[in-house]
Amino acid sequence: MAAFEREDLQSYAKGARADYESALEKIVEIPSVSVDPHHKPDVRQAAELAVSMLESAGASAKIYETKGHPIVHGRFDRGPSYPTVTVYNHLDVQPAEGPDWKTKPFDFVREGERYFGRGTTDDKGPAITALYGARYAVSQGAPVNIRFLWELEEEIGSPNFETTIRANAKELATDSVVVSDTVWVSRSRPAAPAGLRGLQGLRFDLQTGETDQHSGTAGGAARNPISELAQLISECVDGRTGRVKIPGFYADVVPPTKRELEDLRNCGFTVKDFKKDHLFRSLRVDDPLEVMKRIWMMPTFEVHGIAGGYQGPGVKTIIPPKATAIVSCRLVPKMDPKKIVKLIRDFVKSRNPDVKVSAEHELPAYEGKTVGPYADAIRGAMKFAFGKEPVFVREGGSIGAVLSMERVLKAPVFFLGLSLPEHGYHAPNENFDWQQARGGMVAFADYFRRIGEMGKQGRAARG
Ligand code: BES
Ligand code: MN
Ligand code: MN
Repeated sequence: MAAFEREDLQSYAKGARADYESALEKIVEIPSVSVDPHHKPDVRQAAELAVSMLESAGASAKIYETKGHPIVHGRFDRGPSYPTVTVYNHLDVQPAEGPDWKTKPFDFVREGERYFGRGTTDDKGPAITALYGARYAVSQGAPVNIRFLWELEEEIGSPNFETTIRANAKELATDSVVVSDTVWVSRSRPAAPAGLRGLQGLRFDLQTGETDQHSGTAGGAARNPISELAQLISECVDGRTGRVKIPGFYADVVPPTKRELEDLRNCGFTVKDFKKDHLFRSLRVDDPLEVMKRIWMMPTFEVHGIAGGYQGPGVKTIIPPKATAIVSCRLVPKMDPKKIVKLIRDFVKSRNPDVKVSAEHELPAYEGKTVGPYADAIRGAMKFAFGKEPVFVREGGSIGAVLSMERVLKAPVFFLGLSLPEHGYHAPNENFDWQQARGGMVAFADYFRRIGEMGKQGRAARG
């Protein structure tokens, strides 16, 4: 088939804008917070709305049940002789509360070209964008089968994804996967991940009593679980530098190659934008290369919250009976989550044997592919849509489903992300915008056409 004309696609996108915005509004206004049991019916409702959106776009669609939240699958099928590409996105979102939201998180608010609301950029906006790109490719007769795989448990570490796709591997079979759930370096710099960090979640619990006690009558002799956790944490990590102090933590970290360092230097990252996009007043380091290495290529030990004791106004002079710290480590390629859990468990035991360590979601890091026909199709489609080829640099976040899809579907995974740092992943006032949506529709349509042109790839040509 002939290549698409950018002007045709631009006017298709323009014509689709009102429908796109209303679809995004509907899905954003369902608070599909996967981590919160109270929102279970909402997550379900999001899955059902997703099915009806796929169907009204002309696809067939169904829900796969899991032990947790469902998975949605949609298909535009042309025929078995054409290659099949599966688009992965997630429709669950992070919790959204707190005083920093300027609009209600689950109200879809349009401000000029910007769309505000939890999930607009992570990851509902990109999901619906890919669907509109597919509609165009299908309407033009692109020689490709396009499938959608929409997860509703990504933000809790994809605990049931692998088992469920394994049980349905025949129906979900695909020649390749494209994931749209990553971030550019900046608005003027499209990016595609050359890898993702993994994640090991942990909880530290310490209980030293049964109830609050007066700190005047017991203080001095009573153990204070919050102080002990604070001390333990400072034994694990240097809070100022971020250096992890647990022996062996960095043992498997592979230093960046010359080529990777070169790519970092040329990727358009600036510390000034990074600070502005994330509203930071200051950082641990100011050298851009050092910042990039730290956010994309090094493991971390992070405390997300410490709970326990008195949180109300003024001072309440009690000694709390228990405290919890929520912790996680970002992991880089070659690090084994199980080995890290063991290191941390043993270390904690040696420092404070009363602290209970529980391991939560476990995701190894992912090494991406940056060469071959699919990576070239990503480059071509992004250049066609946005005027610039993407830079391939690693990204710091984690997507549990990626490794599972490679393992189970035995199909190579590529990335066509559309989010920007300023969109505020997981932050208050999360947003997406029409420029990224419109470009995304063009990029996806063109990617589908390119994949179609490539035909069925032999195993050797894959990747
Ligand atoms: N879309 C993000 C992953 C991401 C973040 C990719 C930044 C590239 C750059 C995804 O929705 C996410 O937030 N994943 C969680 C997974 C975790 C809860 C198991 C993450 O990375 O914290
Ligand atoms: Mn996401
Ligand atoms: Mn997320």
